[in-house]
Amino acid sequence: MGRVVILLFYLFTFSPLANAQELPVYLDESKPMEQRINDALGRMTLDEKIAVIHAQSKFSSAGIKRLGFPDLWTDDGPHGVRPDVLWDEWVQAGQTNDSCVAFPALTCLAATWNPDMARLYGESLGEEALYRHKDVILGPGVNIYRTPLAGRNFEYMGEDPWLASRMVVPYVQGLQSKGVAACVKHYALNNDEEYRHQVNVVVSDRALREIYLPAFEAAVREGEAWAVMGAYNLYQNQHNCHNATLLNKILKQEWRFDGVVISDWGGCHHTEEAIANGLDMEFGSWTNGLTEGLSNAYDNYYLAQPYKRLIQEGKYSTRELDEKVRRVLRLMFRTNMNRQRPYGAMCSEAHYAAARKIAQEGIVLLKNATPHSDRGSENSGRLLPLPSAQRLLVVGENAVKMMTVGGGSSSLKVQREVSPLQGLRERFPQVDYARGYVGDVGGNFDGVSTGQDLKDNRTAGELIAEAVEKARQADCVIFIGGLNKADYQDSEGHDRKDYALPYGQDAVIEALLKANKRLVVVNISGNAVQMPWADRVPAIVQGWFLGSETGRALADVLSGDVNPSGHLPYTWYRRLEDTGAHALGTYPGTWRPEHDIIDEEYKEDIFVGYRWADRQGIRPLFPFGHGLSYTTFGTGKAKVSAPEMTRGGTLTFTIPVTNSGQRAGSTTLQLYITDRKSSVERPVKELKAFRKVFLNPGEQQLVQLTIDERALSFFDSDRQQWVAESGDFVASIGFSAGDIVARVPFKLR
Ligand code: BGC
Repeated sequence: MGRVVILLFYLFTFSPLANAQELPVYLDESKPMEQRINDALGRMTLDEKIAVIHAQSKFSSAGIKRLGFPDLWTDDGPHGVRPDVLWDEWVQAGQTNDSCVAFPALTCLAATWNPDMARLYGESLGEEALYRHKDVILGPGVNIYRTPLAGRNFEYMGEDPWLASRMVVPYVQGLQSKGVAACVKHYALNNDEEYRHQVNVVVSDRALREIYLPAFEAAVREGEAWAVMGAYNLYQNQHNCHNATLLNKILKQEWRFDGVVISDWGGCHHTEEAIANGLDMEFGSWTNGLTEGLSNAYDNYYLAQPYKRLIQEGKYSTRELDEKVRRVLRLMFRTNMNRQRPYGAMCSEAHYAAARKIAQEGIVLLKNATPHSDRGSENSGRLLPLPSAQRLLVVGENAVKMMTVGGGSSSLKVQREVSPLQGLRERFPQVDYARGYVGDVGGNFDGVSTGQDLKDNRTAGELIAEAVEKARQADCVIFIGGLNKADYQDSEGHDRKDYALPYGQDAVIEALLKANKRLVVVNISGNAVQMPWADRVPAIVQGWFLGSETGRALADVLSGDVNPSGHLPYTWYRRLEDTGAHALGTYPGTWRPEHDIIDEEYKEDIFVGYRWADRQGIRPLFPFGHGLSYTTFGTGKAKVSAPEMTRGGTLTFTIPVTNSGQRAGSTTLQLYITDRKSSVERPVKELKAFRKVFLNPGEQQLVQLTIDERALSFFDSDRQQWVAESGDFVASIGFSAGDIVARVPFKLR
């Protein structure tokens, strides 16, 4: 007997057979993932299954300790890795090792019109996330820019579904290449912030499919995103975090999404809807805090004990639960159970370089004219770039205000943020400063403080007088204003109340114009703003929220060290009423009598952004896709690979582009499609391809733009499918939606 025991001991401890038996399938990396998932699932108890589908702290959910699965850590997103918070609070934990690099806001990324920048962004952010042991980054956001008042437009990728699609895919792939999941948000129709928990969006199937879903679809189908976040609002009278149509029908069945649906924080409201309608993980629901509760407050989550009770009572089997858990396990195998995951890096020089490069490429030169005072004089020429020897006066709060703190969940704690004033002072020898106006002097978000004291008790008149006095002495004045991250600005939870610039900035600009015609306005924002002075200010630059390297990237462009190449990801209307949503009075919606739900009907339908401007014949201040350079570009005759597209085929358009100026620079060729005759009303034109090219002076390149049948299609609501009707089409190629240089007719057979 003794010998048998010893033999068995040897067999199971030292022989290769024993090792093979000991390694459970779910830990065996040579086995297919689905097999490992099923194996792990089969070993889990009901309590373990319930535990992994809801939060255990503000940003984490439980692992399966008995089986060696670590806890899963999420974090915002999308512009850098948010500082760690206390276990059960929003307030930062006060760590000293969680200061990150802030990358430019996603509007800036979209404005690069360069998918390589999106890949670089995703990879860099992924490395920062890894270093901080985060498994899921809560971003990117791809809700369509429908109104310039929307508080979170700065976190999204503009008004056009094609542009947002091309930019979101490499971001997701770059991030996930590091073993960190992207959680694409906010799915769907979260196009403004005001009453975001109560808005029920009423939208046609066609607008849903053609405008609001394509970027999500691309992120899922092409980017293969591992997570999607449900939005707070309602659609078809059902909250989007457990919305049968959006989650089950479209996301999971049609798009074959195999990742997890995560609720927005506090976006889950109903256990049975959550069970049945496709929510996989519940986060951020109200808890009374671990300190106040007698037991673990997270047990009260809709997908915690209430779900378990329904299973125990026999109302549900574990069919839905197992499906959710499978998805969570898949997420874990892709992230924190992936042993090939690299280690990551935080605040590396490479990350700062990436942030600066993306910022440089996203800054948009909106206007660059000859100042009135210079006309006919010797130094007649465009105001930008600025020669180094000039005496510069910088005016405006946004020249000094830190913008990485505030704005809601995207708020960061950065290792450094170079302000515009600092960046300009590093680059130019003579830079004076005047405040000009006082806007928001706050500098705190969830316990993170900028440490800046921006208080200034002078009156508006005194501030303007000082700026004007100094402007008279300067060779050139750079006004740096715009919006900020305070409530009711570019910030989560509310929308702007006004299209106009806040804090009396227009008056400052007008006064400066009177004092010195050599005026550059740099607008820092994630939204268009009203610019009543635009026709009289010679140079206007759109500066976005540029992150850690803000000041340097701005100085790079203003000095001409870098030739600007950003293009607008949205239409810049002169007046708010020019926007479809506002022209039709559909914003913010109509309250129901009980005042619990506000219905917001998207009456402009598919005519969002330039589609509305084209249809109504409105000339915006700056068209979609607009962006100037310090050099000039010319084009030759455009050609198409064949006169007809066959079903399921593609067509390639070729256009020669030449840098006809003196400086090296990049431009973006944009291709828009027009359907000449259709059974339904179609937009005048729609972006379906673009390409950014870099050219040395005198250099020419043949730019190729390829489209497929989907580019010719509309969504047929009756048939519930994409339809491309045979007939005549036109491809319009240009430098913006308002600057078309070539038109090529073709047919679809
Ligand atoms: C925001 C999300 C964010 C989450 C966690 C919510 O309020 O809407 O975008 O990811 O909070 O911070």
